Amino acid sequence: MISLNIVIVKKVVTFFSLRIFKAAAGKAKPMKATLKYLAGIAGPSGYGSKTTAEQVTQDSSCFYPSHLTAIITGATSGIGAETARVLAKRGLRIVIAGRDMKKAKEVRENIWKESPNADVLVLEIDLSSFASIQRFCSEFLSLGLPLSILINNAGLFSQKLEFSEEKVEMTFATNYLGHYLLTEMLLEKMVETAENTGIQGRIINVSSVIHSWVKRDGFCFNNMFNGTNYNGTRAYAQSKLANILHAKELARQLKAKNANVTINAIHPGIVKTGIIRAHKGLITDSLFFFASKLLKSTSQGASTTCYVALSSNTEGVSGKYFADCNECNSSSLANDESEAQKLWNNTRALIQKRLRQAAT
Ligand SMILES: NC(=O)c1ccc[n+]([C@@H]2O[C@H](COP(=O)([O-])OP(=O)(O)OC[C@H]3O[C@@H](n4cnc5c(N)ncnc54)[C@H](OP(=O)(O)O)[C@@H]3O)[C@@H](O)[C@H]2O)c1
Repeated sequence: MISLNIVIVKKVVTFFSLRIFKAAAGKAKPMKATLKYLAGIAGPSGYGSKTTAEQVTQDSSCFYPSHLTAIITGATSGIGAETARVLAKRGLRIVIAGRDMKKAKEVRENIWKESPNADVLVLEIDLSSFASIQRFCSEFLSLGLPLSILINNAGLFSQKLEFSEEKVEMTFATNYLGHYLLTEMLLEKMVETAENTGIQGRIINVSSVIHSWVKRDGFCFNNMFNGTNYNGTRAYAQSKLANILHAKELARQLKAKNANVTINAIHPGIVKTGIIRAHKGLITDSLFFFASKLLKSTSQGASTTCYVALSSNTEGVSGKYFADCNECNSSSLANDESEAQKLWNNTRALIQKRLRQAAT
């Protein structure tokens, strides 16, 4: 995520600088949204950009029965690890789905230091590999546990063009395709759990505001999975758009089936990560010093995921996009139902083809 974060930080700094400059020059309407973000002013949900995951889950609107089971992908660092820590603290059974078992166990140890009775399992998954996703699902399903919450959080940004085992461009394979397959394979369990318990199942796709950088003519399925004319930032943005379209189309299908499971997409905010420690040098340090006033802490970054996963305000809400713990607009391309259906059909066909190829 490091190189991507530099791109994001530069964009954030430019974006806010321009808005501040225009407003000072009287050339723009008062920067209501920007000031709201910077001041952390609460939106209709009662929360805002400065709300932390701890605060959201402490609130009475987050009243839920304990021992719900939640799977969190990419919970070995950053936003995912913080989400796991806070949800475990609130009594949920957590499955840390990670590709690095050493890191997963360290995250579990840290959770246990704070919450010694927390029920935390670690299971291996590499989201860029269909075989690994299948292994993960059969291992999880063989445990006979219920499943109420699935947080599709793992994310990859790669400057280099690389391919997965199934010969799919790596960013697309990890951020989108892997989560699509994982969700497909766990959906029946989630529907069944919701029927048995009466508690709504919730799926959260961790997307990004960067999805809005994708232009319609640049969103071509074949180019994305083949890695044609690869550009790391574009591939990342496309995968994050695909996360939202996936949520929209699956929400439509779940509603049509009357299934008591929702799916939404979220933008966590631009989050302070290890980037600040990893990048040394006067220019980057100065950039980060300024940008750090605009970035979120990891706990603020995990708040929207926790809000959508647990709040009673989001009960029954499906196919929506959230940021700063409030529902908000995604790009017009992300709202295009026909684009979402097209992506769904292409994805399904690609997965079936690759699974057939693997079986022969
Ligand atoms: N940070 C931001 O500013 C920002 C902004 C918008 C959206 N997001 C989104 O937020 C999510 C979390 O990102 P983060 O900022 O917390 O970054 P991070 O600290 O780099 O976390 C990414 C996680 O994804 C995991 N992962 C990567 N490839 C994987 C694979 N093939 N199989 C399984 N797990 C894999 C990583 O595992 P390892 O520990 O093994 O590497 C790590 O746990 C991502 O979806 C990202 O796109 C972040």
